[in-house]
Amino acid sequence: MSVASDFETQVREPFDRVEDEILIPLYQKFPVRIVRGSGTLLYDDSGKEYIDLSGGYGVAIVGHANPEVSRAISEQSRKLITCHGSLYNDARREYLEAISTHLPKIGREGTTNDSETTGLSKIYLCNSGAEANEAAIKFARKSTGRKKTIAFTGSYHGKTMGALSATWSQKYRKKEFEPFVEGFEFAPFGDLEKTRRLVDSETAAIIVEPIQGESGIHIPPDDFLPGLRKLADQNGSALIFDEVQSGFGRTGKLWACENWDCCPDILTAAKGIAGGVPFGFVAVTRKVSESLKVGDHTSTFGGNPLACAAAKAALDFLLRDKLLEKAKQNGLYFKEKLQQLQKRHPSIIREIRGMGLMLAAELKIPVKDVIISGYKEGLILLYSGINVLRFLPPLVITRDQIDLVIERLDWIMSSIDGAGQPTGDVERKEEEEATSVITTGTTKKI
Ligand SMILES: Cc1ncc(COP(=O)(O)O)c(C=O)c1O
Repeated sequence: MSVASDFETQVREPFDRVEDEILIPLYQKFPVRIVRGSGTLLYDDSGKEYIDLSGGYGVAIVGHANPEVSRAISEQSRKLITCHGSLYNDARREYLEAISTHLPKIGREGTTNDSETTGLSKIYLCNSGAEANEAAIKFARKSTGRKKTIAFTGSYHGKTMGALSATWSQKYRKKEFEPFVEGFEFAPFGDLEKTRRLVDSETAAIIVEPIQGESGIHIPPDDFLPGLRKLADQNGSALIFDEVQSGFGRTGKLWACENWDCCPDILTAAKGIAGGVPFGFVAVTRKVSESLKVGDHTSTFGGNPLACAAAKAALDFLLRDKLLEKAKQNGLYFKEKLQQLQKRHPSIIREIRGMGLMLAAELKIPVKDVIISGYKEGLILLYSGINVLRFLPPLVITRDQIDLVIERLDWIMSSIDGAGQPTGDVERKEEEEATSVITTGTTKKI
């Protein structure tokens, strides 16, 4: 089977006349039309079943078409769909009450830092991850009275102008989009010492994904997040954790930062928090909140009752169905199985990494061959860059489904091995990139 040529013909040929002709071609499209989902499974218009390892890019945390989320949406839609933030609303109130008891609150002795004594207690509701990060950057600037933000190599915070300015990848930071927002600098992810060199009295914020997702699932060294916490405290900067991808149970804790007992001043969340309905939030300390005034930041749809009802149902389901424990246990199981797969295909798989159900297999070959074969074999796979398979399945995935995934990946990799395609030709690039830092428009070594 020549998987490589199949991929090329299939992605180049138009698949859906309407979508292909009318949509601006901004997405890498795959030749499948999904019409229905249930839990970890998706179905196309011919009735073919797929195991969804991308989880809708990490959104379907409580499973596709979760019946409790569907019921909540349906009931709320009959009562009230929209209600601006300037009016009070019962669905919004119920969600806020529920989520506010589940925000990071970590007390450490001997500290006067607000985030560590009381944790995060105030919330802004919005509609997406990028939007949450835009707000977070503004909140940090307003609460510190400073302008500079430190982000990290490999980071991804979204594609709106502020979020993009904090995003590392040159693939997204195209010259044509310049000028970016001023005041963003990049330190190497995981390197405290080099981060320290960039932080100064002008630093409003340090923004970081506790586990980097888009760049291929990278877990920092254990001292990194606590070290950033200390650095931000010493310098009076706000520490922002972008938990858009790592949050809401993905790593086996509700928030990934809890794996390091570390609490930010500002936390952003989105993706799966409303069971698939567009929704996001920014949680902040009381101190950050006190710097903000009416009108500083709002959104027409922020705190929409339909999204709030869905988010309350998703949170209730996550906690009642013990999805955190399942993410932890089944994540370990999945990781072990992937490591066994690596042993069977050492010429294809370079490394397995990740935590909970946020996993990656770095390949020695381009992932596209595996991805397109995955569609044929009933697997929806997600990639990071050219050679990383990223696994963000719904947390309801079962061990039987994981076994099936491994069986199918084994078959796909055996057929690639068997086809005698060149392997080991995709080199790691990140290390080289991580030695430099970009400030707006320029690159300098640190
Ligand atoms: C860590 C992180 N932050 C922000 C975003 C942007 O979220 P959205 O696509 O909802 O704007 C993403 C999306 O993948 C993400 O992974």
